Amino acid sequence: MLSIPLPDSTFRDLRDYIYEKSGIYIADTKKYLIENRLSRILQEKNLKSFEDYYKLIKCSINGNELTRLFDAVTTNETYFFREPEQLNVFANEIASKIFSQNKGAKIRIWSAASSTGEEPYTLSMMLLEKGFSTRQFEIYASDLSEGVLNSAKRAVYNSYSVRNIPENYLKKYFLINGQSHELNPLIKNTVKFMKVNLIDDKNTKLLRNVDVIFCRNVLIYFDVKAKQKVVSNLYDSLNHGGYLFIGSSESLHNITRAFRPNVSNKAIIYQKV
Ligand SMILES: C[S@@+](CC[C@H](N)C(=O)[O-])C[C@H]1O[C@@H](n2cnc3c(N)ncnc32)[C@H](O)[C@@H]1O
Repeated sequence: MLSIPLPDSTFRDLRDYIYEKSGIYIADTKKYLIENRLSRILQEKNLKSFEDYYKLIKCSINGNELTRLFDAVTTNETYFFREPEQLNVFANEIASKIFSQNKGAKIRIWSAASSTGEEPYTLSMMLLEKGFSTRQFEIYASDLSEGVLNSAKRAVYNSYSVRNIPENYLKKYFLINGQSHELNPLIKNTVKFMKVNLIDDKNTKLLRNVDVIFCRNVLIYFDVKAKQKVVSNLYDSLNHGGYLFIGSSESLHNITRAFRPNVSNKAIIYQKV
């Protein structure tokens, strides 16, 4: 595949456009990433230059081009049972606390930036293993990229994704056929997927009165201003006293003071106060 050169000025135009629409900030050092990932789209569309591509996405009215652009620039790495300390605090401590506070009403959980679904499905399996029934919780999962949402709904995973799943869960909740691991429909049906751009409050307003938000390993792609906007949107979606989990390598330092950090089992959990 012959690569099409990306001029610095068009890189900056594209970078600013992606930032404005998603909050994802692409540093100068990552120009090659844009060049590589978008070249394929240019070739498919028979476009001769990145300038033509930029004009095309700016003029696209139905949002399809933007969807394709997001699919190309997002980093979707994820796997089941990622950062287990946090998951254990959620399943062993927080879920039952919320359930008794809610006086039996469903626990509302949101996996924001869920990528291909491993995170929300892990939460669902853990709750069932803790003795919760599917009628006692609801899990919403969202992402900006339609490509990953479609994979999440299919719920068929490769060996890399499932490598940390305990043996008893694998046996109980997956149909294994060689390298392919198909999730049991019982778990699939506990998660509702939707497209939500976290930077856009019109989108995040769709989710309100949430008890727990997992928004892990996505803030790293945003600059401070975009992080503040996203975290403020998440704050508005949470119930008073609700919990926010961010990735263990991420921090709310210099972003907000609206949450109280609690430490449990080596995990930091932020609580809306
Ligand atoms: C690295 S994955 C994290 C998946 C999972 N939360 C985890 O920790 O394993 C980051 C996800 O964030 C999504 N993302 C990036 N910007 C977003 C935005 N503005 N709104 C919603 N999702 C976004 C990407 O599409 C990607 O699927």
